[in-house]
Amino acid sequence: MKKVSFWIDTASKPDFSKMTKDIDCDVIVVGGGLTGITTALLLARAGVNVAVIEADAIGSGTSGHTTAKVTAQHGIKLSMLSQGKALAYYNANLTGLKLVRSLIDELNIECDFETQDSYVYARSAAEESDVMDELAAYKRLDIEAEIVKQTQLPFDIRCALKLKNQAQFHPLKYLYALAETLRDMNVPLFEQTKALNIERNENNIRLFTDKKKTITVKSAVLATGYPMIEFPGLFFLRLFQERSYIMAAQKQAPQGMYLSAEKPVESVRSHALGCQPWLLVGGFGHRTGKEDKEDTGFAPLGGFLKDSFAGAEAAYGWSAQDGMTLDHIPYVGSLYKYEPNLYVATGYEKWGMTNSAAAAIMISDEITGNKAIDPDIRDVFSPLRIAPGASAGGFAKQAAEAVYEFTVGNASIPVGSLDDIKTGEGAVLRINGHAVAAYKDENGHVAMFKAHCTHLGCPLEYNASERSFDCACHGSRFSVTGEVLEGPAIKPLERADR
Ligand SMILES: Cc1cc2nc3c(=O)[nH]c(=O)nc-3n(C[C@H](O)[C@H](O)[C@H](O)COP(=O)(O)OP(=O)(O)OC[C@H]3O[C@@H](n4cnc5c(N)ncnc54)[C@H](O)[C@@H]3O)c2cc1C
Ligand code: FES
Repeated sequence: MKKVSFWIDTASKPDFSKMTKDIDCDVIVVGGGLTGITTALLLARAGVNVAVIEADAIGSGTSGHTTAKVTAQHGIKLSMLSQGKALAYYNANLTGLKLVRSLIDELNIECDFETQDSYVYARSAAEESDVMDELAAYKRLDIEAEIVKQTQLPFDIRCALKLKNQAQFHPLKYLYALAETLRDMNVPLFEQTKALNIERNENNIRLFTDKKKTITVKSAVLATGYPMIEFPGLFFLRLFQERSYIMAAQKQAPQGMYLSAEKPVESVRSHALGCQPWLLVGGFGHRTGKEDKEDTGFAPLGGFLKDSFAGAEAAYGWSAQDGMTLDHIPYVGSLYKYEPNLYVATGYEKWGMTNSAAAAIMISDEITGNKAIDPDIRDVFSPLRIAPGASAGGFAKQAAEAVYEFTVGNASIPVGSLDDIKTGEGAVLRINGHAVAAYKDENGHVAMFKAHCTHLGCPLEYNASERSFDCACHGSRFSVTGEVLEGPAIKPLERADR
């Protein structure tokens, strides 16, 4: 099995240069995933002087590692929200879906886009009751959907909630085409350019990059997944990350896009690459840094693929993570009430294909004063909201989780020695009283780091299936050579002395 994203391996990426000089513009978009690229496109079309920076390569984040079901059906979701919020959430995602469809039509994007029906299915009585609750929420909102007892899945289900006319695509063929449109519009887009620090004063915002260049703007859009700033926003108290796994097998797949109602989540879709049929399965996720060896990760996902699809073997396997909010609605919009302003778009809970398009509309509306989306919807998504799940109780729960990781996680680092680590493996150990994250390469050379995350100091865990050091507090991940793989951390791990 190739441990690389099927999407990255099957699309040709356009290249963009690094930033080599200071720039001034109206708006900087930080992050070249679906959120950032779509936002930049809408702003450029509205005549805004915008530029984009991307720390690595465009599409290298979660957008290049997704399952790419483009649907307004997000598993068991609407029944978890109050009626007003469910309506705003559904309408936002319907608007996002319409934007994706219209950009594909208008720009003639070849991205294997296919209309498909979407299903949430139940195998057990408990799941069936969740599916019926979701149906009731659909009915309250006048969403046309039906319960079916039979699907094309090769296993028995009790029932499934079917929403017609949703879609699936190749996310990177789509993203790369949008980026090329930006290039055609002369919008500066820089890869390998990471924002390290942001300063806001009464006149402007300044971003300092790892290329030792400065960007001076009126507004900055942080489309980085987990935002890279702690204040304002207090995201460390109200956003954590969950990782999920995906496998692709060269095999005829059922038509339709499927998701199980209960955890561990099972996800199924097809993909036609030319005339080759592919089957994608996914799910079996967990809070980042907290893999449960039995129920989550590649092993149970591979078991699901093999057992459910006649012994299918994965040709590709990869994983990714996304932000989870306290009230199950993304945080999208401005962090200040006045210019110069910072905007964020995060917390899509693994439903970012339509949420990112909706976020792009909401943020470009805020910046340009347009009303392409109902301002009441923007209020529901605003990161300034105080919502039941995001109020004191919710904050306390996420804070307690971080405190637990900090205290119990720290105390449970086992005492050991470098001899305990096999070649090609890593571990977090207490050696001579110091907590270290150590990795022994194939030649027996050991790299040793302080075993605490450079975001807010929580202890790290070694992730054997992906060879990384992960943090359960907010989901930062580091390579075995100490570099940041995924934020919110910005700084690499500190070397530890022997
Ligand atoms: C396993 C999995 C399956 C999923 N399946 C689906 C699905 O079927 N349907 C669906 O709707 N959604 C799905 N999602 C969710 C969806 O993929 C994401 O919500 C979406 O891709 C997020 O896009 P983004 O642009 O906000 O973030 P990303 O794509 O992560 O982009 C953020 C970018 O910011 C860059 N960056 C970070 N920090 C900096 C910095 N300091 N300076 C410059 N650049 C920076 C990163 O390198 C990255 O490229 C799934 C998610 C996961 C994890
Ligand atoms: S990600 Fe916040 S402390 Fe590690």
